[in-house]
Amino acid sequence: MSIKAPRGTKDILPPESAKWSYMEKKAREICRRYNYLEIKTPIFEHTELFARGIGEGTDIVQKEMYSFTDRGGRSITLRPEGTAPVVRSFLEQKLYGQALPKKFFYFGPMFRYERPQAGRYRQFHQFGVEVIGSDEPAVDVETIILGIDFIEELGLKDFFVEINSIGCPKCRPRYLDKLKNYLEGQEDFCSNCQNRIDTNPLRVLDCKNPDCQELLKQAPKINDFLCAECASNFSQVKEGLDYLGLSYREDPTLVRGLDYYTNTVFEVKSNDLGAQDAIFSGGRYNGLLKEIGDRDIPATGFALGLERLELLLKEEAANFGSDLEVYITTIGEEAEAFSISLLRQIRAAGISADRDYGGRSIGSQMKDADRKNANYCLIIGSDELKSQAATVRNMQTGDEEEVALKEITNYLTKSL
Ligand code: HAM
Repeated sequence: MSIKAPRGTKDILPPESAKWSYMEKKAREICRRYNYLEIKTPIFEHTELFARGIGEGTDIVQKEMYSFTDRGGRSITLRPEGTAPVVRSFLEQKLYGQALPKKFFYFGPMFRYERPQAGRYRQFHQFGVEVIGSDEPAVDVETIILGIDFIEELGLKDFFVEINSIGCPKCRPRYLDKLKNYLEGQEDFCSNCQNRIDTNPLRVLDCKNPDCQELLKQAPKINDFLCAECASNFSQVKEGLDYLGLSYREDPTLVRGLDYYTNTVFEVKSNDLGAQDAIFSGGRYNGLLKEIGDRDIPATGFALGLERLELLLKEEAANFGSDLEVYITTIGEEAEAFSISLLRQIRAAGISADRDYGGRSIGSQMKDADRKNANYCLIIGSDELKSQAATVRNMQTGDEEEVALKEITNYLTKSL
């Protein structure tokens, strides 16, 4: 029986892999301009980090974590997201002793045991940013705009921004009481919602069932319960976005699936993605550092799903990769042996170069060069070795020219 990749995972093959390098290159470039520095944390952490950080009552912690006991008897989890690990690292390495805020970015695989569908995987990849050590609304605005700049520079146009404020531990309990009262008074919520009314009423707002959505239209809205500080904070975030000319929709039911959020939450969505429409999403999490490490330090950030972004990059994958620049075809053993050092010399000059390894006829080698989209083909046989020159063929025009071997690198550098 042949072995297949596990459900919910996918191989990223050439030429698609070139799209991935391109996305990563662009993200790094944006982060450099915004002065965010890269952080790399382990792919697995102690389960407790996510249980406490993301919240015991969330779907991620209850149903979706890849957890196992290691040989030392510890409960370990493959990270389902990147925020809790960055916070853990910040606290463990005592980065709060340095000038704040710290601005980080990261890339990497995340793992969630979800039902796979278009744009939803069990191993997926995120590009994320986290700013730790500032509660300025301007920082929320900066992270949102960083993400928008990134997707716009990749050519995306058809997206929209949804934002909300979910308040703070001072004002949210009053809202939750009201919400719970309302929810308990309705009998027609789905069984999932019924279970959540007691454990995590905010999650009910997240239900995708159309009947529940209808009932939720009459539910009390968090915005009417924000304390003065949270209301002013939310206004400042919106003013910042207005100032930058970014349009957004306020969605009072946007609550996010992780428990660590406070104040601003947002999702940037595409109409071209179907049900899994969030390209990137995040918000402020002022309580998470206290929860994990007993430090009262505010923070904010987002993460972007790279599989979803890749789906939206319309251009042909082949356009993201570089074509092969030079292909060396050889006739005879002596020429073949010589091509090894010539290839090295050409590659050392920064030119991409390759050859045939199948011992094929000159005709087949030429076909291979064509298939690989080579710009130039060098033909080397015993005559060429004797005269210390190569025949250089321009694969687009078919023109051929004799070029001295000692001049070949210069010639190619100038011509490409
Ligand atoms: P999240 O909304 O769970 O937030 O995930 C962020 C993004 O990752 C989503 O908008 C989506 O594009 C992508 N994503 C999530 N799950 C999957 C999946 N199963 N398959 C493919 N893509 C997926 C977080 O992870 C937070 N840590 C974001 C954050 C950072 N908040 C503050 N800082």
